[in-house]
Amino acid sequence: MRGGINRLSYAAELANDLRRTHMCGVLTEADVGREVVLMGWVQKRRDHGGLIFVDLRDRWGLVQVVFNPDYSEEALKKAERIRSEYVIAVVGRVEKRPEGTDNPNLPTGAIEVHVAEARILNAAKTPPFYIEDEVEVDENIRLRYRYLDLRRPEMQRALQLRHRAAKATRDFLDGRGFIEVETPMLTKSTPEGARDYLVPSRVNPGSFYALPQSPQLFKQILMVSGIDRYFQIVRCFRDEDLRADRQPEFTQIDMEMSFVTAEDVMEVTESMIAEICQQTTGLEVTVPFPRLTYQDALNRFGTDKPDLRFGLELVDVSDLAAGCGFKVFRSAVQAGGLVKGILATGCGGYSRKEIDELTQYALTYKAKGLAYFIVTEEGLKAPITKFFTKEELATIQTRFGARPGDLILFVADQPSVVYAALGALRKMLGERLGLTDNADYRFSWVVDFPLLEFDADEGRYVAVHHMFTSPRTDDLPLLAEEPGRVRAQAYDLVLNGVELGGGSIRIHRRDLQEQVFTAIGMSADEALEKFGFLLEAFDYGTPPHGGIAFGFDRLVMLLAGRQSIREVMAFPKTQNAADLMTGAPDTVSRGQLRELHIGLDVKKEDK
Ligand code: AMO
Ligand code: AMP
Repeated sequence: MRGGINRLSYAAELANDLRRTHMCGVLTEADVGREVVLMGWVQKRRDHGGLIFVDLRDRWGLVQVVFNPDYSEEALKKAERIRSEYVIAVVGRVEKRPEGTDNPNLPTGAIEVHVAEARILNAAKTPPFYIEDEVEVDENIRLRYRYLDLRRPEMQRALQLRHRAAKATRDFLDGRGFIEVETPMLTKSTPEGARDYLVPSRVNPGSFYALPQSPQLFKQILMVSGIDRYFQIVRCFRDEDLRADRQPEFTQIDMEMSFVTAEDVMEVTESMIAEICQQTTGLEVTVPFPRLTYQDALNRFGTDKPDLRFGLELVDVSDLAAGCGFKVFRSAVQAGGLVKGILATGCGGYSRKEIDELTQYALTYKAKGLAYFIVTEEGLKAPITKFFTKEELATIQTRFGARPGDLILFVADQPSVVYAALGALRKMLGERLGLTDNADYRFSWVVDFPLLEFDADEGRYVAVHHMFTSPRTDDLPLLAEEPGRVRAQAYDLVLNGVELGGGSIRIHRRDLQEQVFTAIGMSADEALEKFGFLLEAFDYGTPPHGGIAFGFDRLVMLLAGRQSIREVMAFPKTQNAADLMTGAPDTVSRGQLRELHIGLDVKKEDK
């Protein structure tokens, strides 16, 4: 036997030994006869009266260890004290399991380890939930005891996948001549659009750093510095409303390149994504990814992040609606709006209540209603058929390719409302009709975004991406007169309805930058105050440049087939931006506040 009980006697020796310890989950029949030292957690103990079986778990998986008085009375005595999640070390021999006791569901199910010596390294309280996959546990409890949650095999796999994805990213980009440069976490706020997390400065009373929403300005400055291919796997911070795919701190694969076109950026990044998929899950993705213009994406899917795993495309009937007898449709078109519909295949049997639910859902996207037709053998049926001629009804049915048993849903409104409501309905129906296969990966680029959009609240144009995004050269003549029609040299990468990344070619000439500032109603003074340092840097020889940033958590989430980025982050926050394990955010002492020159106008009970 390699080592004996004395080898397990001292903590220091144990630590040393860890390097030589064997791994539970990888033992196979080839190891039969070997003596092994195993250390891990007790998944389960089964007492068969005089014989104890323990499923021992480590990062690599489970193995059954057997305490039998024939091998060691002393070890068996210790095993009687063992409970779930105790940390133990055993020295034993790998044996084939007796005939008929194999467990085909376990990779190590053909063997077991007969224990000669054992040591309890640490006891454990009874955990609040079982450490196994598919546990039905409230997420708040999982987050409160995240260290236990992370022991579960699926979380271990998620972290492993994340690690592999980061490594594949670094290897790929290194191979393409990129270098990783770190940028500051304590910085000045960047014009990214979300709210900043602020950090008070003790030595500069009344002044604050902002945690970066992204390294946008720094990466552009690195281009001025001649770092022609930059990347960083970097933490970003945004104080915004949280959702399944949004966290207050998240990770980007951030990139910037000099002397490139949008084509170059898309080529290098789609190759990178293909490589990450291949290296992590073995998924083969075909490049180049299909491209859609922003306008096509809206027209066909109602969103700029379309899920291409299924059809259910939006169908335009505005032409027909303009002259029809249904006032709701007619007046929407007269007011400059649209009437579009979606075919809910096989949903013709929906009850009144189910249709009402769909209507309510559409109303949450500001639709004023949801008109519908049920498709029957006799044609379209609904309370509103009376407003349409026979020919109109037949044309509608043909245009949708609708068959008996289907349901057609319509929204008539301003384009933005029609897109939002039908886009959301399409997504919901796709899921409901089982059209969203997690193993199907449909990447696409969305290009030709508008450069600016009119913000009715602010009464001015604002940048759709950010204000350093370059307009398309062929649209430059429109900038002064029709800024809303100018398209940007911007591109988003979308996977299965999730925006994975976005970027653009930047403006590198001051005259053009000033025109864009003018278009968004920003004075030269204001621009100087906000990002004078960038504009100043731009005066010293700026190469043409562009880049992109990917949501790393989102990519790993989709590769892992999970529904939330919280499932692929070690220590995520809740919907309220709280860390339930550490209790952050928390109050701090008055002394700390005083040092930071901060007085609070909220009392603890106001929280
Ligand atoms: P953008 O703001 O589009 O671009 O962000 C890039 C990508 O980051 C991911 N992402 C998030 N992931 C999780 N939680 C969040 N709160 C969150 N916010 C964004 C998304 C998104 O596509 N500097 C520019 C990029 C550039 O122009 O180069 C930027 O940050 O997947
Ligand atoms: P009403 O004329 O308001 O009784 O509506 C008749 C039908 O048209 C109902 O099914 C409404 O949900 C629907 N409807 C009302 N307004 C709209 C709209 N803007 N777009 C689509 N359907 C609508």
